[in-house]
Amino acid sequence: MLSILDSMHDQYTLQQLALRNGQDRPEIWIAYQGLIYDVSGSRLWFNGKHYEHWAGQDLTDELKDAPHTEAVFGRFKVIGEIKK
Ligand code: HEM
Repeated sequence: MLSILDSMHDQYTLQQLALRNGQDRPEIWIAYQGLIYDVSGSRLWFNGKHYEHWAGQDLTDELKDAPHTEAVFGRFKVIGEIKK
């Protein structure tokens, strides 16, 4: 049975997200529409850099610059959400 807990995510502040920028901590995280994805395993986000974009932030407004859609997030697990 689907528990309500399955739809809950750990919450992180923007400051905590900022530390996962590929430089300060081993984890590399990016946020899109408030949800945080772990892209540590992606060679395309090596060192936290993806073309001209940096991990450790909410990149929602930057997706318009990308040659791809948000479908790319389907390959990654949501590991948390930004604390409001
Ligand atoms: C100049 C801007 C950008 C360029 C040229 C670019 C280019 C690419 C390319 C070529 C790929 C691999 C092919 C594909 O999956 O379609 C990719 C994957 C990806 N992009 Fe971007 N991108 C840009 C911006 C962004 C932004 C702003 C985000 C986040 C909002 C983003 C998130 C991702 C993710 C999560 C993947 C999947 C990585 C993987 O599968 O390992 N990209 N991007």
